[in-house]
Amino acid sequence: MLRKRNKLQLTAAQRDSMRAAGRFNAEVMDHIRPLVKAGVTTAAIDDAVREYTKAHGHRAATLGYQGYPKSCCTSINDVICHGIPNEYALQEGDIINVDLTSVVDGWFGDQSETFLIGQCSDEARAVTQCSFDCLYLAIEALTPGCRVSVIGETVVREAHARGFSVVREYVGHGLGRAFHQDPSIPHFPNRQSRIDRLLPGMCFTIEPMINAGTRYAKPVDKADGWTVRTRDGQLSAQFEHTILMTEDGPEILTLTQDGPRRGHRF
Ligand code: MF3
Ligand code: CO
Ligand code: CO
Repeated sequence: MLRKRNKLQLTAAQRDSMRAAGRFNAEVMDHIRPLVKAGVTTAAIDDAVREYTKAHGHRAATLGYQGYPKSCCTSINDVICHGIPNEYALQEGDIINVDLTSVVDGWFGDQSETFLIGQCSDEARAVTQCSFDCLYLAIEALTPGCRVSVIGETVVREAHARGFSVVREYVGHGLGRAFHQDPSIPHFPNRQSRIDRLLPGMCFTIEPMINAGTRYAKPVDKADGWTVRTRDGQLSAQFEHTILMTEDGPEILTLTQDGPRRGHRF
């Protein structure tokens, strides 16, 4: 019996629209990559994202999203996610996650990378490597129609084996013509993720946030309403890709030209 397509399963033409959005988003990451160095402010990175995106006729999804003021998120050291670009200049030894989301002809691309600024501690390198490897192991675990929970099972197993913890308060998500939509993609197994399946034509992110210490986040920073820090002040690292599930398996839509590839050693 032929099963009807559900509304999260994109047609061939819609998949191409998502591919274009992911490709452009990755291009923005390659564009700002050379800037992510000691001495550069996160505001300068944000300016470059905004200007490049605008020059290409697109828009950054975060700008104005629920009142968010900038075109990307820059999350440094103990910041788990949603750090707001400002006049802070990157320093040798920092780790910084740059999270980019763009809207191309109404379709969303979303990805992030953690960058090591100069010489970093062994722990900074290890937690960054762990997040990167968790992302790729989770992608490799995907098969057409698999349960969402394979992602959380893979990430938790790997992170715990390396002595790190997995953030639960923030998760990956479906995306398409909306920034955040079903299914929810937790990086730990839960009841819903054991039910939800990743069918051909579905698009979603995987974006494991891995902490050096406790998995718990502090409440959102009251001063800016966005910044999320680890409760114990220890490091947190994250990588994110937008994925399309196809009839043949997962396709990464946000692969960069110049960034770290599968198997990269930091
Ligand atoms: N890009 C983030 C994600 O991966 C969301 C950022 S929303 C913002 O889902 F408003 F904080 F920018
Ligand atoms: Co995302
Ligand atoms: Co993102």
